[in-house]
Amino acid sequence: MTESQSELSPERQVQAARKAFDQEIERFVRFCDPSQLSRVDLETAELEERGFKEIRVRHLGKKSALAASRKLIGRVPAEQRPAFGQLVQSTEDAMVQTVEKIESALKGHIESERTARESIDVTMPGRRPRAGHRHPITLLRERVEDVFVALGYAIEDDREIETDFYNFDALNIPEHHPARASQDTFYTTEGFALRTQTSTVQIHAMQRRGVPVRMIAPGRVFRRDTPDPTHNPMFFQVEGLCVDRGITMAHLKGTVAEFLRRMFGADTVTRFRPSYFPFTEPSAEFDFSCFKCKGSGCRICKNSGWIELGGSGMVHPNVLRAVGVDPQIYSGFAFGLGIDRMCALMYELDDIRLLFENDVRFLEQFE
Ligand code: FA5
Repeated sequence: MTESQSELSPERQVQAARKAFDQEIERFVRFCDPSQLSRVDLETAELEERGFKEIRVRHLGKKSALAASRKLIGRVPAEQRPAFGQLVQSTEDAMVQTVEKIESALKGHIESERTARESIDVTMPGRRPRAGHRHPITLLRERVEDVFVALGYAIEDDREIETDFYNFDALNIPEHHPARASQDTFYTTEGFALRTQTSTVQIHAMQRRGVPVRMIAPGRVFRRDTPDPTHNPMFFQVEGLCVDRGITMAHLKGTVAEFLRRMFGADTVTRFRPSYFPFTEPSAEFDFSCFKCKGSGCRICKNSGWIELGGSGMVHPNVLRAVGVDPQIYSGFAFGLGIDRMCALMYELDDIRLLFENDVRFLEQFE
């Protein structure tokens, strides 16, 4: 009790104790209003409960102002004693009642929050982790790989950033060839280029494995093509290379035809059209009979009965020389095809850009 309080009359001392209690408790009364308390989380409620214990001790404990007033009962004049005793008792009863109400509200809330947090509803269905799956291009690439592995081909993987030597020189693409122009190729500031075709792997594979060699190389390539329904600046190709003694155009035709029969059915017909690639001579593009209409003409083959797939040819002697292979002894064929367009055809997609928009609703259809 402060000095100024002890100077007050006993009744005023009781009133002052009650007033101090009321002031401090007001915040808790508001805090424990059911509409307010229901929004309070467990940690906050526990913190408030700890703080509230101190308030009970301060206002109702042995050293409280109220306890000091109680001691005065014996000292007030006898005729005032019953009334004063009643005042002290009724004040204490009211304070204890308020404190208990707050304590029970806090305790009740804490208990129900703990139960809610710890309870497990065993009847709730579990949350199934969403299993990922392979991209349609990966699915197709794996089918292509399976066919060639069965034909005795190795699978090569190589770098996507290349020097001029691998992307151009070794592939017989001379210095002023249009394929080197910056509007066709992505160059890095260090003078490297993002590979524009998987044919670069022909060179790496022959350097690494020597000849004879039989390999395919699926991978990502990059060109400065404006995106449209049949073009992307990044797409996938599969390269094929076979070099040995006595390899002829007949081996090329037989291999490509067998690959397409295994991919699209035994009745698939393949045709070769003369073409030009700097790294093959002679060169040919190849088409296969439409897998949907079997050659009679439909939307997929644009009513031609044929679907264009890729380029091919006999490896140019200059390419063999670039990797130290004697073209008098060895010959070979190479071919390359785009997986994205093939994928779009097989799944009847109108636009290859769909493959890279990463819309899960679209991709989920190809499990
Ligand atoms: C080549 O890239 C040659 N390297 C193929 C080759 C290999 C010929 C070995 C001879 C010997 P071409 O530029 O035509 O050829 O591309 C091959 C395939 O890639 C095309 O048939 C097409 O399916 C695909 N393609 C080309 N540009 C794009 C593009 N911007 N977006 C998607 N696919 C493309």
